[in-house]
Amino acid sequence: MNFLELVKRRYSCRAYEQRPVEREKLDYVMECVRMAPSAVNKQPWRFRVISDGEGRAKLQQCYARDWFNTAPVYVIASVLHDEEWVRGDGKRHGDIDIAIAVEHLCLAAAEQGLGTCWVCNFDAVKCGEAFSLPESEEPAVLIPMGYAADEPKEKKRKTIKEIVDVL
Ligand SMILES: Cc1cc2nc3c(=O)[nH]c(=O)nc-3n(C[C@H](O)[C@H](O)[C@H](O)COP(=O)(O)O)c2cc1C
Repeated sequence: MNFLELVKRRYSCRAYEQRPVEREKLDYVMECVRMAPSAVNKQPWRFRVISDGEGRAKLQQCYARDWFNTAPVYVIASVLHDEEWVRGDGKRHGDIDIAIAVEHLCLAAAEQGLGTCWVCNFDAVKCGEAFSLPESEEPAVLIPMGYAADEPKEKKRKTIKEIVDVL
């Protein structure tokens, strides 16, 4: 599978089998996350993996969707705002860094035959409280992960002409 094939294989999976994710696959995916680049190599992130226990219920309350509840594994991807690089003009780079890491996660999972979905439309305040996250740590993305129980939809994307200008 070449990179374009992998990129096309990843899609927003919104139904999961109950089948657990093998520990080796989870470790592989998180190693791919660890290798993600970040501004000034600050790696201003923390990833919390939740599969069992009361953490599941707490997280599900932060994003109340039936499909979300079906995932056997979740990752909370957080930005550590006290570690992110801040450019001279004040632009903070933690959000960019976390986005790269999360997409590493999603692509690695797809390569391993696992489905994922980016979730940002969750209650971040509730999530921070539920997991007693420090003030400087912002839960930015929730990623449900597991074996897909749905099918990818057609990819709707702008054309190359609409998005690329060759100057
Ligand atoms: C930053 C970001 C936030 C997203 N938040 C959500 C979300 O809260 N809930 C959801 O169901 N999908 C969410 N998505 C998934 C997008 O809807 C999806 O990526 C887009 O429609 C393209 O479809 P595809 O991922 O299947 O290619 C998010 C995606 C991104 C990149």
